[in-house]
Amino acid sequence: MAAAAIGAARRSRRDLNGRPTCHASHPQTASKRPITGASCTAGAWMRHHPIGCTAGPNRGAVRDYHRPGMDRWQTIIEPFRIKSVEPIRLTTPEMREATLAEAGYNLFNLHAADVLIDLLTDSGTGAMSAEQWAGIQRGDESYAGSPSWFRFLDAVTELWPFKHVIPTHQGRAAEKILFSVIGGPGQVIPSNTHFDTTRANVEFTGAEAVDVVIAEGRSPSTEHPFKGNMDVEALDALILDRGVENIPVVFVTITNNSGGGQPVSLANLRAVRAVCDRYGLPLFLDACRFAENAWFIKEREDGYADAAIPDIVREMAALADGMTMSGKKDALANIGGWLALDDDAWAEQCRNLLILTEGFPTYGGLAGRDLEAMAAGLREVVDEDYLRYRIRSTAYLGEALLASGIPCVRPIGGHAVYLDAAALLPHIEPLAYPGQALACALYREGGIRGCEIGTVMFGQHPDGTETPAAMELVRLAIPRRVYTQSHIDYVIEVIRWVAGRSETLRGMRIVEQPSTLRHFTARFAPLA
Ligand code: F0G
Repeated sequence: MAAAAIGAARRSRRDLNGRPTCHASHPQTASKRPITGASCTAGAWMRHHPIGCTAGPNRGAVRDYHRPGMDRWQTIIEPFRIKSVEPIRLTTPEMREATLAEAGYNLFNLHAADVLIDLLTDSGTGAMSAEQWAGIQRGDESYAGSPSWFRFLDAVTELWPFKHVIPTHQGRAAEKILFSVIGGPGQVIPSNTHFDTTRANVEFTGAEAVDVVIAEGRSPSTEHPFKGNMDVEALDALILDRGVENIPVVFVTITNNSGGGQPVSLANLRAVRAVCDRYGLPLFLDACRFAENAWFIKEREDGYADAAIPDIVREMAALADGMTMSGKKDALANIGGWLALDDDAWAEQCRNLLILTEGFPTYGGLAGRDLEAMAAGLREVVDEDYLRYRIRSTAYLGEALLASGIPCVRPIGGHAVYLDAAALLPHIEPLAYPGQALACALYREGGIRGCEIGTVMFGQHPDGTETPAAMELVRLAIPRRVYTQSHIDYVIEVIRWVAGRSETLRGMRIVEQPSTLRHFTARFAPLA
C-alpha cells in the first residue's frame, strides 16, 4: 500500500484536532452533514455510524444521551479519571530489534518493561476501580464460607442465575475441569469458535473441538452485525453426522474472540437452543466478554434498544445450561474465573476435581480479595457509560485504520482490532506466518505488542501436521480502562507507517516449537 494514499486518506477524514471524525468512514457525509443530521439509508448502519454517533440506524445508541449536557458532544470521553499511574519506558527501534532477536521473535517472550503499548491481551490487564481496590481491602481470607465468597456469589447469580457456581483461578481452569468431566476420546464439542485454551482443553481429553461459525464470520471483510453467530444448520448437520450420543455439550463463545471479537445475537442463541432442545443437548456459554456482547445486542438487535444491559445478560443466561468464565475480561479483575451450571451430577464431579486442583468450593483457586474484585467488577461492567466508552474506543482505533485503507476485520469487534495480515502482506504465504511478521514489525517500529491469531496459533495439529489457518490476523486487544486516546493515536500512527512499507516485510520460519499451544513459546527467525 502506498504511503501517499494513506496520507491522503488521513488528511481528508480527520477533524481539526487531527482525530477521525464521527463520519470519518462516511464519504457521502464527511463534509456536509451536521453531527445530529439525518440518518443513512438502512443497511449501511455500521459501516458509517460508529457507536454513539447520533445519525443513522445506530441512533438508538444515544438515547441515553438525553441527559443534561450529554447530547451536545461527539467525543465519548473516558468515564473515569486517573488516580494512580504507571510509567512507560520509551525505547528505540534499535533497542527493540535487539530485544526481538533475543526473544526469538516471539512477543510472548518479551520483558513487558520493554513494551511501550501492550495490546497483547485484554485479559487481566485492566485497571481496577477505587471500589475494586476497596473490595481488596475488605477481602476475607477464611478458608470456608468467607463473606467475600457470598458477595461474589451474589454478584454472579444476579446476572447468571445458575444453580451451581464454582470459582476457579481463571477461565481455562473452569474449562479444564468441565472438559475433564464431559470430554474424552470420541466426544465432539461444537462451538461457534473455540478459543485456543478451550480447544486445547477439549483436545487434551481426546475429544474433538469443531468450529461452526456462520460463513460471514470466516471472512474478515464481510460486514454482519452478529458475525459471531453459530451456523445453526451446520450444527444440526454435525450432530446428525457424529451422533447425538457423542456430543456432550454445545458451546457458544460470546463475544467470538478468535473470530474477531464479534457478537452473537439473542436470536441466534435462541436458534441454537432450539437445536439443543431437539436433541436433548445442554448449551453452555464461554461468556468471557458477555457485557460487550450484551452492548452489541442493545445496539444492533431489533427490540433491545431500550433493554437494560443486566436484563439482556439474564436473557442470555436463561437460554443456557451453564457457562465458563474468565473474570480477567468482563469481571474487570486481574485474575479469577468460574464455572456455573444447573446440572447437579456434573456439578458434583466438577467440585470434586476443583478440590483436587484449585481449592475448596468457596474460594476455588483464588484469595477472598480476588472474589471481591470480581464482585465489584461485575457491577461496573454492565454500566452503560462504561460499555458505550469501551465499545466506542475500540471502534475509534479500527475506524481510523480502515479510513487509511488498512485491512481489518469488519465490523470492529468489542475488545480488539484485528489487522488482516493476509490482505496487508499478500506476498507472505501462510506457512511463512504473515501475522507473526506483522506483529514483530509493529513492535520493532513502535514498541507495540499485539498477538498473532493465525497459522502460528491454529495451524498446528495434534498429529504433528501443519495447515494454514482460516485467517491470518494480528489482534490488538485493548486493556480495559488503561490507555487514553493519545496512546491510541500513537498506535494508529505506527500502524500507518508500517502499512505504508508493508512490501518490505519478510516472512518467518519456526526454529523451535512445543507439540501444543506453540504460539506461547515457539522461537522464530526472519526469512531472508
Ligand atoms: N475463552 C475465551 C473466549 C478467551 O478469550 C479466553 C482467554 C479464555 C476462554 C480463557 O480464559 O485466560 O482466564 O484462562 N483469552 C485471553 C486472550 C487469554 O488474550 O484472549 P483465561
